[in-house]
Amino acid sequence: MKLFDSHCHLDDEKFNEDREELIPKLHEEGVDKLVSAGYSLEGSKNAIELAKKYDFIYATIGISPNDIPDTEDELKKQLKELKELYKTSKKIVAVGEIGLDYHWNTDNKELQKEAFIEQIKLANELNLPIQIHTRDAVMDTIGILKNNKVNKNGIFHCCPFNRELVKEALKLNFYISFAGPTTFKNSKNAPEIINMVPEDRFLVETDSPYLSPEPFRGRRNDPRNVQYIIKKIAEVKGKTFEEIQNMAYANAQRIFNIE
Ligand code: NI
Repeated sequence: MKLFDSHCHLDDEKFNEDREELIPKLHEEGVDKLVSAGYSLEGSKNAIELAKKYDFIYATIGISPNDIPDTEDELKKQLKELKELYKTSKKIVAVGEIGLDYHWNTDNKELQKEAFIEQIKLANELNLPIQIHTRDAVMDTIGILKNNKVNKNGIFHCCPFNRELVKEALKLNFYISFAGPTTFKNSKNAPEIINMVPEDRFLVETDSPYLSPEPFRGRRNDPRNVQYIIKKIAEVKGKTFEEIQNMAYANAQRIFNIE
């Protein structure tokens, strides 16, 4: 296997007990490359540290809608620090995860939007793609992306199975990243969404330690399980595992600009 997990969080505390043993094992067992995603200032620093330590790990930097601070002043301060972080590593491949989340947070929508827009600007400045988190905020997310041009393209991480969103994302030439829910039995329209996405526009990810795919639902997830997402896409598209694996790999290399 030659897997590329385009989004996970290896700095998560759920890996504290065995991170050092686990990471080399992931690589031995088929995870050729992975992107450990930032979600806060601290999380971004952690992702960079992991990328420094392990050749096959890359990092993103960003403040997620669920991790933005309470005030605009503090947000501005953190965004400045985020920009400084970029200078500390050559393995930062995207600004993310950034976006809007009205599922977990509804009382700070304006600040979420500001953080999203400011980080799109940051990505453009750094010449990086963005990795987007969106939940229960489809229209506002699309609105912001239409009004704020992303120079280096974008990825909808753990893409919701929302036809409208995927349609608009593809119009923008963005990438759609499929995660564990793709395999869930209650994701009834997953096949329809999978078939909407062209072969050069999808990625696969685990979002570990969360969102374990079937048959491991409920357990701690890790990047090896990205193979179950590949399997599902192969089934739906009537391709072999290897074909989908190779497409996802090439797509990830292209969007993250990795040799
Ligand atoms: Ni994530």
